[in-house]
Amino acid sequence: MNGDQLRQSFLSFFAERGHAIIPSAPLVPENDPTVLFTTAGMHPLVPYLLGEPHPLGKRLTNAQKCLRTDDIEEVGDASHGTFFEMLGFWSLGDYWKQDSLRWTLEWFTDVLGLARDRIWVSVFAGDADAPRDEEAIAVWRALGIPAERIRPLPKHDNWWGPAGQTGPCGPDSELFYATGKPMCGPDCGPGCDCGAFVEIGNNVFMTYNKTAEGTFEPLRQRNIDVGLGLERILAMLGGTDVYATDLYHRTMAAIRELSAGQRADLAPDRVMRRERIIADHLRAAVFMIADRVIPSNVERGYICRRLIRRAILAGHELGMPSPFTAQIAQTIIERYHQAYREIADQVEMILTEIGREEERFGQTLTRGLREFDRITSDPVLTSGGTLSGEIVFRLFDTYGFPSTLTAELARERGLVADMAGYEEHFRHHRELSRAANQEKFKGGLADHSERTTQLHTATHLLQQALRDVLGDHVHQMGSNITPERLRFDFSHPKKLTPTEIRAVEDRINA
Ligand code: ALA
Repeated sequence: MNGDQLRQSFLSFFAERGHAIIPSAPLVPENDPTVLFTTAGMHPLVPYLLGEPHPLGKRLTNAQKCLRTDDIEEVGDASHGTFFEMLGFWSLGDYWKQDSLRWTLEWFTDVLGLARDRIWVSVFAGDADAPRDEEAIAVWRALGIPAERIRPLPKHDNWWGPAGQTGPCGPDSELFYATGKPMCGPDCGPGCDCGAFVEIGNNVFMTYNKTAEGTFEPLRQRNIDVGLGLERILAMLGGTDVYATDLYHRTMAAIRELSAGQRADLAPDRVMRRERIIADHLRAAVFMIADRVIPSNVERGYICRRLIRRAILAGHELGMPSPFTAQIAQTIIERYHQAYREIADQVEMILTEIGREEERFGQTLTRGLREFDRITSDPVLTSGGTLSGEIVFRLFDTYGFPSTLTAELARERGLVADMAGYEEHFRHHRELSRAANQEKFKGGLADHSERTTQLHTATHLLQQALRDVLGDHVHQMGSNITPERLRFDFSHPKKLTPTEIRAVEDRINA
């Protein structure tokens, strides 16, 4: 089965069970400022999980584009990635655990052919916020999973959400597949990361709303939220890693072709790590740009920029001729343009933006290297043969030099980079920007007050009015709503004239 067949198999299975197939929402949450990117299939559905009726009913399914950037430094091993597709299905106050767990198990075993006796599950063990999930345990037992393959685990493992700081969440039950690798000890089981188990899916019983005060209040309706990682399942079925699946086939081939024989001195595992970084990051960038996240120095654009630049550096380290990013992006576009219309529609823009970023980064790198030379030839700045953590951080922050690159360049000049000092600066900086972001991203879809709902509606009116007055090139670039006001960012090459503003206002008021 290839990636497209797997996606289709899932959607058909749940459509046959009464679920409406909905399109993937954009990677940029339409109106939830509590997070930068859509990180789960449930995310665009928050209002419906909170009780608003969905126009297509109470049973939904889709493949959702997701982006998670917490693990960006781990990318390059067999399992961590940034962009992925989440296969999901939902009950919005409709069926309950018995159906969701049974269907999940049936799709894995009856359709995909996984061995039932290699499936293990975890359930919520219970604490002061919610009781032990006896119901899920009973359902699993009735479905033929023996007690020894059902593991109750605490909140840390078996509670999912909210996606931002507040909103719907609840106890969950994860499915694991025994890989055949021996268990590492008597405590080994689902949740152990020794490699004996791989997580293949998650059923969340969304019955709570986490408030800004950190308490859990019951939701108006009982929801089911299920998410399965398409790439991971595909890799597991093929007995391989994500980068060896058909999704990456042509991309990896193109990377290898362009880097062939350049770095015979690099150990194979280091080469592989860099190849994977290029593939993962450029795939994420292609999808981001298709959703109109353009490389820049702020917020989402900054993440896009960092991903592209990390890919470029990895390419340099492999000796790939520059420019190379557009050529690699082309293979990703070819792989995905049929399943994702927004990619087919914007091939030009995707290739231009990626290429432009590579050009800009080339200039930054040159400037950064010049700065590096200046610093390292200054006896005061390098006294004691050390490059301070502050300098390493500044090279990262200003020129995008990863600390490992600086350390390597320093070594070539007989200097030692203070990595611990760098880490300290990095942490400090991250805390500062987190605090700033939390201020900025207050509110969000989970705030369901009437005032916020009105402002949400007004945002839609505003967008249409802008398009009517200025033209169809106007697209939403961001939005932020609090109970006090709305903010709407949009694309338009010029400042609006007073007459245009007036026309927009009149149209909305009408
Ligand atoms: N929302 C759940 C997850 O992301 C399904 O795991």
